[in-house]
Amino acid sequence: MKTLATLRSVIRFERIETNAVERRLRRAASVEDLRRIARRRLPGGVFDYIDGAAEDERTLVANEAAFAAVGFRPRVLRGLSGVDVGSQLLGQPVAFPLVLAPTGFTRIADPQGELAVARAAAGAGVPYTLSTLSTRSIEEVRAVSDGRLWFQVYAWRDRQLVAEMIARAAASNYEALVLTVDTAVFGRRERDVRRGFSLPPAVGLKTLVDGALHPSWTFSFVRSEPIRFSNVVGRDGVGDGASPVTLADYINQQFDPALSWRQVEWLRERWNGPIVLKGIQTVADARIAAEVGVESIALSNHGGRQLDGAPAAFDLVAPVADAVGGRIEIICDGGVRRGSDIVKAVAAGATAAMAGRAYLYALGAAGERGVDRLLGWWRDDIARTMALCGVGTVAELGRDVLTLE
Ligand code: FNR
Repeated sequence: MKTLATLRSVIRFERIETNAVERRLRRAASVEDLRRIARRRLPGGVFDYIDGAAEDERTLVANEAAFAAVGFRPRVLRGLSGVDVGSQLLGQPVAFPLVLAPTGFTRIADPQGELAVARAAAGAGVPYTLSTLSTRSIEEVRAVSDGRLWFQVYAWRDRQLVAEMIARAAASNYEALVLTVDTAVFGRRERDVRRGFSLPPAVGLKTLVDGALHPSWTFSFVRSEPIRFSNVVGRDGVGDGASPVTLADYINQQFDPALSWRQVEWLRERWNGPIVLKGIQTVADARIAAEVGVESIALSNHGGRQLDGAPAAFDLVAPVADAVGGRIEIICDGGVRRGSDIVKAVAAGATAAMAGRAYLYALGAAGERGVDRLLGWWRDDIARTMALCGVGTVAELGRDVLTLE
């Protein structure tokens, strides 16, 4: 009798979860968990397009390793009554110091694609950057979000196209322009080369088999409207992705490899708001950017997808902050997998961190709800990490909390 009573006091049956997405998320607690679920749900070629990077993927690994190599120097007994994770980015408030990176072809992870990510970002109070190569248009994304939106551009050979996109972004009340400067030519992503991966995925025998093994992805892919580069649909001479292309061919055909600082001036003449240069990878270029007078730079190697062997983004933060901090905002892009990474980036001297793959894993694992969950975790991670370091506000985060020196 006693045994029964004891058993009864400890047994707790979990409520049966009827929502499939919630069921999937229930056992997830980290980005690595979301990545694992995404890997299971997405066809191999799609997962590798998201997860992969250039050549030996050393820079991809280095981006994450750089965060792991630095620890905290926690201060205790500080009498903190609470922690405020709110901050400022480009002079405007953010709920926590993060901006979501632009990622092309987002609908490949989930049919809602950029709409889902934009809604999740607005809900969490952080800006979202829409890629030039997005699969939902500038206007469609604005229609679902009253949050902060940034628009990313590449140096297309067709300058008129860039001018028109910028005008559309301004008309839709996008706040900042992000010029990606690390893609003069396309990086060699060997996972995509091996698979012959194209956008949209070309349907051959291999894809059919892969699709059959991932029925829920295939079903929603086939059921939703065709995936296009939505910002360039109908443009002469610029493929809109209606027929499969390898991204390497597309970028090498459409983008101007002779990108120079003159392009920044060209943009300045056409755009009234702040400009962020994404893809700065040396102190020398950070100094030029500060001289030229852009508002912000994103220290970034495109998540290791361009030049393998480029320095880890986080390792650049402190030297760049020493050189130009205070004159220009610094964003640390690449390798962020936890809220504590965001804390490290800011403590080292960045205004905010930027992240790409983490939200794509979340989207591939559980759609918009997955991205909501991720951003909630990160906000909580930042608050917890700051509390455990004895720091009450983002403005007080400094190198003294890191084992940097
Ligand atoms: C990207 N990235 C990117 N950058 C950009 O400026 N324009 C783009 O269209 C894309 N597209 C894109 C697609 C995919 C699938 C990935 C993973 C990345 C790079 C992105 O903005 C960012 O720099 C990296 O994702 C940062 O590294 P993490 O956060 O993925 O480690």
